[in-house]
Amino acid sequence: MAKTVLCLPGDGIGPEVTAEAIKLLECLGTDFGLSLRIEHGAVGGSAYDQYGVPLPETTLAAAHGADAVLLGAVGGPKWETLPYESRPERGLLALRSELGLFANLRPAVTYPQLADASSLKTELVSGLDILIVRELTGGIYFGQPRGVRTVENGEQEGFNTLVYRESEIERIARVAFDVARKRNRRLCSVDKANVLEATELWRKVATSIGNEYADVELSHMYVDNAAMQLVCRPKQFDVIVTTNMFGDILSDVAAMLTGSIGMLPSASLAADGKGMYEPIHGSAPDIAGKGIANPLATLLSVAMMLRYSLNETRLATLVESAVERVLDDGFRTADLVAGGTQPVSTSQMGTAVVAVLRDLSGDIL
Ligand code: IPM
Ligand code: MG
Repeated sequence: MAKTVLCLPGDGIGPEVTAEAIKLLECLGTDFGLSLRIEHGAVGGSAYDQYGVPLPETTLAAAHGADAVLLGAVGGPKWETLPYESRPERGLLALRSELGLFANLRPAVTYPQLADASSLKTELVSGLDILIVRELTGGIYFGQPRGVRTVENGEQEGFNTLVYRESEIERIARVAFDVARKRNRRLCSVDKANVLEATELWRKVATSIGNEYADVELSHMYVDNAAMQLVCRPKQFDVIVTTNMFGDILSDVAAMLTGSIGMLPSASLAADGKGMYEPIHGSAPDIAGKGIANPLATLLSVAMMLRYSLNETRLATLVESAVERVLDDGFRTADLVAGGTQPVSTSQMGTAVVAVLRDLSGDIL
């Protein structure tokens, strides 16, 4: 039976980059026999405009029914003054939470072709291959109570709660140890255990799960040091596991090591195997509608989808090699060009990847 992929383009550059992903999926259908049903839905600010809520019931139901979800991006200045519960980001957070997508995998890989696009010295980043495992459905993003209240003197006070249960830490730690086992067997757990009790517990639980994984070398690092180490000696890391908010911040830092935030894909996985796949870059309203966004993070997210949700490892590897090939051939979107080179558009980049895949299909089929 054909598997179902729900595509949620969202806001800003989301529709532009997901359009390239659809081109790619269609090519995998016609040229590689991948049998997929692609559905479309609304999320984020565009859903709010159309339905008055950032996550319509129909979208949530379709997401529950799909084998995998592909998301573009949400958010933008147009919706920034809405009450919190109506904001585009709430749609994304609700999807993550409702689908139980607690494990967020964010690989930061520096392609040799792009090592000189990084803001760091080439020798620091060449060969870099880090995987950030971010806890995605707990921590301060979801903790209660939260809000803004008025205190004694009439002043406003904003408050959020950082809360983690042992079971939440345990399950994300296991995911991280398991993936570390398939890589270089080094796991760094990042916390702020010197100040925050919730992350002192994080460290304790990570250590105790570590006893079951004697073959994986576990280390601990405070988040401020981790941020510094990422920009001064990034290649020391293999797998990093951390809380929802620290993972949000550190994955943006790691992205820049690879040359551009436009290169980082992600997979958000639930215990039942359901997955949502999205580029980590966000909606980039400043360049939306110009056709210049880099679609590679989204195409690489499709590769992760093929690997983790659709059980198509061979096609995942093919997509990844097609991306490498177009970089070899010199294709660069505006975020990747170094002076002088003429950048290609979003759709030219997508078309180039599809063209390489078509070529490969001749060799393979
Ligand atoms: C990310 C984004 C989201 C997050 C926003 C859009 C809610 O920054 O996926 O990294 O903070 O998780
Ligand atoms: Mg982020």
